[in-house]
Amino acid sequence: MTKRTPIIAGNWKMHNTLAESAALVEALKKADNKNNAEIIVAPSFTSLAKVAELAKGSALQVSAQDIHWEDKGAFTSAVSPVQAKDAGATHTILGHSERRSVFGDTDEILNKKVAAALRHGLAIIFCVGETLAQREANETIAVIDTQLENGLKGYTAEQLKGLIIAYEPVWAIGTGKTATPAQAQEVHAAIRKFLAGKYGEDFAQATRILYGGSVKDTNVDEIMAQPDVDGALVGGQALIAEKFTRIINFN
Ligand code: PGA
Repeated sequence: MTKRTPIIAGNWKMHNTLAESAALVEALKKADNKNNAEIIVAPSFTSLAKVAELAKGSALQVSAQDIHWEDKGAFTSAVSPVQAKDAGATHTILGHSERRSVFGDTDEILNKKVAAALRHGLAIIFCVGETLAQREANETIAVIDTQLENGLKGYTAEQLKGLIIAYEPVWAIGTGKTATPAQAQEVHAAIRKFLAGKYGEDFAQATRILYGGSVKDTNVDEIMAQPDVDGALVGGQALIAEKFTRIINFN
């Protein structure tokens, strides 16, 4: 089995002024990293260039939280992949459930955003996850397979090389409710199975699948102990340097 380097990613969402972002990134630059994890921070666009500049030369990588699918144009308020890259992003999150549910990002739109990220060499953190109603109706795996199938449609394993998936059950995001380690493992294994069927076993074994949804310093260890959990996408606790540092240094 391939040994996968863990990824701990922090999604800062619509938080932090420039000064707060700078203070957080400076604190994280000093953080221990005993697992040699890849550490990624996703500040809001106003802080992206600043954070990327401060992170230069450190182990921190910087991600956009989203991108538009066009390189430029009349799209008031949107940020293009070219602009995100220019500001210093090496990654972009796509399909976060808040983008899907609040801003109407459909699988079709996400497929265009995947194209945009690939066109510009931005590594993709592609989020999938079911709502509580879908889980209770036993639709979890089917929903996620559809999100993967439609969102990534049209690309080969070669083109998608380096893809990162984040499993984020919608009912666990920002709610304090975490999937049990067994629930996370079950879905992560199903995602890896989907990837193996579609892109081959090598691709599936190399792909990092992160868990997200109320990951905390107090539950990260048991989640990371699952064989198919390769990292975490953290919201709330990613804003607190000590908490995020503990998450980076999971046991
Ligand atoms: P949370 O957010 O850790 O605050 O639940 C996770 C996410 O939305 O990525």
